[in-house]
Amino acid sequence: MSAHQQTAASPFIRACRNEPVPHTPVWFMRQAGRSLPEYLKLREGIPMLESCTRPELVTEITLQPVRRHRVDAAIYYSDIVVPLKAIGLDLDIKPGVGPVVADPIRTRQDLARLRDLEPTDVGYVTEAVGLLTAELGATPLIGFAGAPFTLASYLVEGGPSRNHERTKALMYGDPELWRDLLDRLADITAAFLKVQIEAGASAVQVFDSWVGALSPADYRRFVMPSSAKVFDAVAGYGVPRIHFGVGTGELLGLMGEAGADVVGVDWRVPLDEAARRVGPGKALQGNLDPAVLFAPTAAVEAKTREVLDAAAAAGTGHVFNLGHGVLPSTDPDALSRLVEFVHRTTRAA
Ligand code: CP3
Repeated sequence: MSAHQQTAASPFIRACRNEPVPHTPVWFMRQAGRSLPEYLKLREGIPMLESCTRPELVTEITLQPVRRHRVDAAIYYSDIVVPLKAIGLDLDIKPGVGPVVADPIRTRQDLARLRDLEPTDVGYVTEAVGLLTAELGATPLIGFAGAPFTLASYLVEGGPSRNHERTKALMYGDPELWRDLLDRLADITAAFLKVQIEAGASAVQVFDSWVGALSPADYRRFVMPSSAKVFDAVAGYGVPRIHFGVGTGELLGLMGEAGADVVGVDWRVPLDEAARRVGPGKALQGNLDPAVLFAPTAAVEAKTREVLDAAAAAGTGHVFNLGHGVLPSTDPDALSRLVEFVHRTTRAA
């Protein structure tokens, strides 16, 4: 039986498809490789991007949160810049900072450095996904990639950015170059997702983390065509496609329209309101504020109930998650308790 068939009846896949579930499935963005002491120990002395090229290490780090928290899905341990590194761009991930690009992409000549991604560029991904799906059995593995806009923001700025000023300068100043840049990135992202799906990933998430910096009109004009190209490219596999960004309350409808089956929502919009914005037929993922996990257990449970009640009112498939990634100093036990609480509460419902 293929990995896709083995996981089809799992609560996570069923929720993504708006099918009835025995309990609300839970996983956490950035569950792999953050606060866990067993992760920090494994990573000692190994740079982030190097760790992503070692299949045994990737497998172990991906499995750690599944064992510890009993989450309903694994997320493949990697980073959004891995495919860009794999096509030869000179970039690194600086601890506590994020991705840093040696020579930013800002001109038409620079575009030539963005060649296509071939499956052989990331053979370690194919190998690690194979090892993982064998270990995971009926638990789904989520593959992922960065969306063209968010990747472009790192490439154009040269690193993390608060205001994305150089990115917007290029977008508004040279719309043709911008379109071609995002189109190149869409091909790379799609190729990277295909590698993961063909190796056995049961679902994929496209992270457009920073696209909330745009208005709906600009999203539609400058971003949606390339993101839609990514979703179209993997539509034929039939695996659920999740689309996530931060601060995207005004973009939720368009992000669904771009081709997602599941729309990820941050903590700023309640899920019943998100369902109205996204429209019928799509499932939702989210949306507990990750900072809530620093409050006492009773408060965490009260805020979690609000999320579950809003999801019930939304009446769509619901994958419980945080509204953004696990914060690095989060107590791992608070995450384990949260998984248990969501399972217990929704099983009884
Ligand atoms: O979700 C998971 O558990 C899987 C692993 C994962 C990583 N990065 C590992 C990682 C995933 C899904 C990502 C995605 C990612 N990377 C995004 C989108 C998700 C989001 O949070 O919005 C973005 C924007 C990046 C770029 C990036 N890489 C950032 C902002 C950082 C953090 C920098 C820091 O140290 O605060 C990274 C580094 C990174 N990616 C780490 C890990 C485990 C930490 C690096 C280390 O341990 O040295």
